Amino acid sequence: METVLSGIRPTGNLHLGNYFGMVKNSVQMQYENRCFFFIADYHSLTTHPNPADLHGNVRQILAEYLACGIDPEKTTLYLQSDVPEIPELYLILNMNAYVGELERTSSFKEKIRQQPDNVNAGLLTYPVLMATDILIHRATRVPVGKDQVQHLEMTRNYANRFNNMYKTDFFPEPQVYVFTKEAIKIPGLDGSGKMGKSEGNGIYLVDTDEQIRKKVMKAVTDSGAAGQNSEMPEPVKNLFTLMEVVSTPETVQFFTEKYNEGGIRYGDMKKQLAEDIILAVKPIRERINDIYSNTEFLHRVVTEGQQKARESASKTLKEVRSIIGFKPF
Ligand code: TRP
Repeated sequence: METVLSGIRPTGNLHLGNYFGMVKNSVQMQYENRCFFFIADYHSLTTHPNPADLHGNVRQILAEYLACGIDPEKTTLYLQSDVPEIPELYLILNMNAYVGELERTSSFKEKIRQQPDNVNAGLLTYPVLMATDILIHRATRVPVGKDQVQHLEMTRNYANRFNNMYKTDFFPEPQVYVFTKEAIKIPGLDGSGKMGKSEGNGIYLVDTDEQIRKKVMKAVTDSGAAGQNSEMPEPVKNLFTLMEVVSTPETVQFFTEKYNEGGIRYGDMKKQLAEDIILAVKPIRERINDIYSNTEFLHRVVTEGQQKARESASKTLKEVRSIIGFKPF
């Protein structure tokens, strides 16, 4: 069994794209591996969130993942900031990370551009903290998107550097975890590209029925009427892609035939699509809201998660301390 670890920064709500892409796959993953899943709240400090927002965002993301099916009995689910072994290993790994390579990291260069007034040292050493998250449990697999591949490469470098420096094979080389089922790419509602947090083109799991209807009715379609069997323009294709995910095959077939006959009414299609999205989202939203307000349950989840995470982390740290020569007197 592989040890799989994944982390998420507590920024923004989950949308349909996250759900049908990463989240559903992560839920499946729990049954096939030893899983660690954590909220990267230390990482989020690089953008200086205000304290009230931070707590609310952490609670929200926890509730969302639990509502989607992350099972705290199967997965060790915890907050990064609840595990003091992480900052300790981070300090140690920082000694083997070179400023030059950190300055050349793509995400750092990107951040300098995005927040020129707040180029803090935490941004520079972000990849070291991420490597720590992974190595603290000696994880072997990490499901990451394209934007995190370089960080994972750096993690392998730090693991190898440590192993070479101390002539040990203590840290495994973590590889990208490839989901068994390819993630479905959910398009946005603005006609092109995929659904994203920053694009403002998404439907969120916490959206109300009314919000969903409004967003879908406003979705971009094509301008003119389509002729018989004409090629589908991208915005229309996108609506069909969404429909394939949330509607029955009969519904999809019905509207496909209408399209091919050249007699589709996008208003009708969108109405149907909105109702089918609501059917999919509503039960999740209700679970999210229940869990969000259930402080007792959340308290239990993070307390048990912390305990399991620290058990694993302290084992690693104890060995690391001994390998580097910190010995008890
Ligand atoms: N850097 C990741 C992101 O921005 C979040 C993250 C932090 C992470 N530590 C991790 C992801 C460890 C995987 C493993 O999305």
